[in-house]
Amino acid sequence: MTAVPVTPLATNQDLDPVALRQAFGVFPSGVVAVAAEVDDELVGLAASSFTSVSLDPPLVSFSVANTSKTWPTLRRASHLGVTILADHHGAVCRQLAGPVAHRFDGVAATTTADGATTLDDGLARFDCTVYHELEAGDHTIVLLQLHAVEQADTSQPLVFHRSRFQSITGGLG
Ligand SMILES: Cc1cc2nc3c(=O)[nH]c(=O)nc-3n(C[C@H](O)[C@H](O)[C@H](O)COP(=O)(O)O)c2cc1C
Repeated sequence: MTAVPVTPLATNQDLDPVALRQAFGVFPSGVVAVAAEVDDELVGLAASSFTSVSLDPPLVSFSVANTSKTWPTLRRASHLGVTILADHHGAVCRQLAGPVAHRFDGVAATTTADGATTLDDGLARFDCTVYHELEAGDHTIVLLQLHAVEQADTSQPLVFHRSRFQSITGGLG
């Protein structure tokens, strides 16, 4: 087999945000809905930056843009709901990232007494509180502590890859 020549990575590049966004987009991720009821209104957003962090204490994280108009309200909720979206949630995901007034239109969701809102047909649902917020450039990393978990559905996750929604089609063994 002939080796393909690889040029060394150039140092001191001007890391243009458009090129960075494209490179970050190569990494596939799931998508979650982060939501709560605040002042009698459902508030929430879609986030692909979700990741599991710790088992003890149970922690997950997501990153929220510092430009988010929703996060300053959402973070006031005493509890937050996180729902892992399924592969049939493409339109719901776009809606949860779209105009604030219509994010929950036609979306079946349940809210706990503490205000954590989760989607009824997600793959897994978490009841969380904010554990820590860490400034990270133009985003804030939000660590969430879990208080309840339910993994109800065995269908496939929604996958966000190269700015498009995908589904997992098969395993590699
Ligand atoms: C697939 C997808 C993933 C997203 N992931 C994030 C994310 O991880 N963090 C974030 O701040 N916004 C993310 N967004 C954008 C938010 O859902 C929302 O549109 C954004 O916060 C602007 O709305 P806001 O000003 O009401 O917060 C994502 C949007 C989509 C469609």
